[in-house]
Amino acid sequence: MSRRLGILISGRGSNLQSIVDAIRRGELEAEIAVVISNRTEAAGLMRAREAGLEAVCVLQKDYPSRELYDAAVAQVLQSHHVDLVCLAGFMRLIGEPLLRAFPNRILNIHPSLLPAFPGLEAQRQALEYGVRVSGATVHVVDAGLDAGAIVLQAAVPVMEADTVESLSARILVEEHRLYPRAIALVLDAKWRVVGRRFVLDAAAGV
Ligand code: GRF
Repeated sequence: MSRRLGILISGRGSNLQSIVDAIRRGELEAEIAVVISNRTEAAGLMRAREAGLEAVCVLQKDYPSRELYDAAVAQVLQSHHVDLVCLAGFMRLIGEPLLRAFPNRILNIHPSLLPAFPGLEAQRQALEYGVRVSGATVHVVDAGLDAGAIVLQAAVPVMEADTVESLSARILVEEHRLYPRAIALVLDAKWRVVGRRFVLDAAAGV
């Protein structure tokens, strides 16, 4: 596949920054065609513009329904000839119009070892549950919440003294390593989704 990325954000955009940095370092051969935010105040928009990227806001309030909102986002991505969509702290469920436009071509990063702790405040959920290990997951996006096939995961220990902030910071370090690697894998390898599984095509020598 060709290698034009569309990055969707809602907030600070540190994962967007890690993708920008990996491309600059030559570790990820891709180009960011467009950054889309659903919030005008997202700090990631500033990072995108500082990196010289095209960054646009697509706001729910400008569309009468979720379907039309998702169709508008799909339209922006398609008009920039995006091949792979990367959700990077995009705080919305992805609806049918986007899934249809980019089948198995949308990735997400989540701050837990899925299927544990999907949804909001994954780090708080992990602490409250008392797990000893947590981490980050990059997965293919489907209609479920943090539910699609898992591409890569990274684990971190949970310490006795951890707070939501300290655990989040430890996981974030891994997120920033993991997402560019997962994107490179998805772009470079031959793979399929078989049932729940992301399966590399060994026959293709990857
Ligand atoms: C990250 O923890 C990511 O895993 C989650 O939302 C957060 C986004 O952070 N989906 P940032 O905007 O990339 O800094």
